[in-house]
Amino acid sequence: MHNSDALHQKSGKTNFEIIYDMEDPREYFNTLGSFDYCIPRHGQRVFSELIEARRANGSANGSGEGRTRVVDVCCSYGVIAALLKHEITLDDLYARYGSEELTGLSSEELAEADAAFYREHLKEAAPEVIGVDVARNAVSYGVRSGALDAGFAENLEEEEPTEELRRAVSGTDLLTITGGVGYVSKRTFERLLECMTEGPQGQIPWVAVFALRWVSYEDVSETLSSFGLVTEKLEGHTFTQRRFTGDEEREYVLEELAGMDIDTTGKEDTGWYHANFYLSRPAEESKIPLEALLSL
Ligand SMILES: C[S@@+](CC[C@H](N)C(=O)[O-])C[C@H]1O[C@@H](n2cnc3c(N)ncnc32)[C@H](O)[C@@H]1O
Repeated sequence: MHNSDALHQKSGKTNFEIIYDMEDPREYFNTLGSFDYCIPRHGQRVFSELIEARRANGSANGSGEGRTRVVDVCCSYGVIAALLKHEITLDDLYARYGSEELTGLSSEELAEADAAFYREHLKEAAPEVIGVDVARNAVSYGVRSGALDAGFAENLEEEEPTEELRRAVSGTDLLTITGGVGYVSKRTFERLLECMTEGPQGQIPWVAVFALRWVSYEDVSETLSSFGLVTEKLEGHTFTQRRFTGDEEREYVLEELAGMDIDTTGKEDTGWYHANFYLSRPAEESKIPLEALLSL
């Protein structure tokens, strides 16, 4: 099993850190697009279905009224926020950030153009999405472009949340993560859940997370259970994350998964990272099985 140290220091996983904190998202999309990075597409569909389910449940904001509040951890430039709030697809974003038309724009001009683009495509019942990520430039871009309603460049692995973050995430309906477990551990979940449940607006959110199959989710689900959340892993279905960058990454991952007794046939052995999906809900809200909430 792997923890964040293994993922970062010992693994054969390619290090993309340089593109995580640039002035705008063009390089992020162009680089990850060349490896068919697609987990945000699965996130868009699954998280949207969960937002609907939670609304139908009458749980959003404690009353079923008002905007659903989502906190997206490892939000980067606001990728998940852009996809949850707007009538757009991940392919639209790849096309947009790779387009020649936008190549000549400065980052500031691109943020303005994005703000207009997002306004034009805003969904009627768009959720409010608050982002958290260590990458200061990326978070700032997400807020300036309007993808994120608010953003916090904080490292909850190492520090307590600021007062502003505490207030902003109180009363969250749904906590989401794509491509981030391993970078963040149970420490980040614990600190966020403490903020979300405190104060007069406080409530227990649903926690919806995609995690690569070689990353253990055990510590996180244990931490979530101390807040009364029951974690289910979606059985019988995994989600493609991206293609391997090359033989080195592929061999390393196949060997690690074999060591964990995980069958990679038809999945990683076809050249792709695969992720599991986990949903954590309070026991009394877990009566409908996870499989029945999603259209897979
Ligand atoms: C692979 S990207 C995923 C971004 C986005 N969720 C997506 O799917 O497109 C991983 C992100 O985790 C962020 N990250 C790394 N360490 C973190 C930490 N300790 N707390 C919050 N975010 C972190 C990186 O800055 C980066 O934006």
